[in-house]
Amino acid sequence: MPEQGACTVVVGCQWGDEGKGKIVDVLAEGVDIVARYQGGANAGHTVEVGDDGFVLHQIPSGILHEGKRCLLGNGVVLDIGQFFEEYDALVERGIDLEGRVGVSTRAQLLLPYHRLLDRVVEDSAAEKIGTTGRGIGPAYEDKAGRRGVRVADLTDKERLESRVAEARDRVRRRVAAMGSGGADELDADTDRVLAMSERLLALATDTGREITRALKDGRRVLLEGAQGTALDLDHGTYPFVTSSNTTAAAAATGTGIGPTAIDAVVGVVKAYTTRVGEGPLPTALDPEMDEHMRQLGGEFGATTGRPRRCGWFDSVLTRYAAQVNGLTGIAVTKLDVLDTLGEVQVATAYRLPKGDVTEVFPADVRSLVSAEPVYESMPGWEQSTCDARRLEDLPTKARSYLDRIEELTGTPVQWVSVGTRRDQIIPVH
Ligand code: IMP
Repeated sequence: MPEQGACTVVVGCQWGDEGKGKIVDVLAEGVDIVARYQGGANAGHTVEVGDDGFVLHQIPSGILHEGKRCLLGNGVVLDIGQFFEEYDALVERGIDLEGRVGVSTRAQLLLPYHRLLDRVVEDSAAEKIGTTGRGIGPAYEDKAGRRGVRVADLTDKERLESRVAEARDRVRRRVAAMGSGGADELDADTDRVLAMSERLLALATDTGREITRALKDGRRVLLEGAQGTALDLDHGTYPFVTSSNTTAAAAATGTGIGPTAIDAVVGVVKAYTTRVGEGPLPTALDPEMDEHMRQLGGEFGATTGRPRRCGWFDSVLTRYAAQVNGLTGIAVTKLDVLDTLGEVQVATAYRLPKGDVTEVFPADVRSLVSAEPVYESMPGWEQSTCDARRLEDLPTKARSYLDRIEELTGTPVQWVSVGTRRDQIIPVH
């Protein structure tokens, strides 16, 4: 088994949907605590256990391992209604959650008016982002604007009511100014959600303190990223990004531990690339191949059901992700999706409009839109990899493909996933 540090971050290295849920589920076996550090119900982490499929939006993917403590850090925007729906659905399916879920007292609350504003702003925007409609942007705007409401505020009813009323009125005015409706139910919806305050407070914890103590006591922790590096608010394909820092450094600020507490960062990369929502995808496939890959990989959003655009593996992006996240290893997922292809391609550089060739991921969106990938073609292995459990079980051509990914990304491949089931994973080194 690849050795992980006591405190490991798992981070997406593309545009999300890399299969982080599966990798977290596998790594969770060896840890005591799994914590989410950013994002909210925009995430959709799919985990298959036996014949059961679970899509987790807010509760960390480690929850499917009996006895593991699962935390939502201060960097998360917590949609209380959706959170308890997910919580209750897990209990209904026989998962014992007693004492296992904790929510940071410093986490921001995502309330119904954030969802409304997300939808209205997106509908009226000239340049659409293609958000998940879960209210993420408006909730983080309130946080940065120092208008947000945090879990700890639920203990002070008077303060809570005045802050919520102020925020709700502000949203109502903005929605009305944009000529949109949908605000009629806001009072009732917000009251319904805030009625769950006591239930939420019963789960409240200081995540930084809890994790720091656990590490001191020799316990092991996994910090679970949502979305991916190219969707990071600072380092991604801005403005076509989410509203949080998705990259590994945010695992410290988003849980309340110091950066020196982190020992390892595992980057998850799909064996090809996908993107959902608007924004550039330099290695996008032609329409026919795009459709073929989408069907092969079942590439439809776990949260919204939207079809994902597909592309070849982009090492310009993953090399950048290795740098931004300080990766110590990578997990390559969905290798089996490429099993039937006669040829696979890997982008090694971009040709920019003026003809310059660069291996550096550009900051400006215009360059990314017009970047022409420089491809290296490799022969496909045209053989099933689903039953491989050791590196030696893989066809030579599949191993060459992984070797090339490792070389171009400059990071050792530690895991290879060859199917959705828990056992369909190859530990490498
Ligand atoms: P938001 O996070 O809902 O504001 O959406 C902003 C952008 O991030 C959109 O392009 C979404 O499609 C994308 N996005 C957000 N969450 C995920 C995810 O979990 N997987 C993939 N894309 C996501």
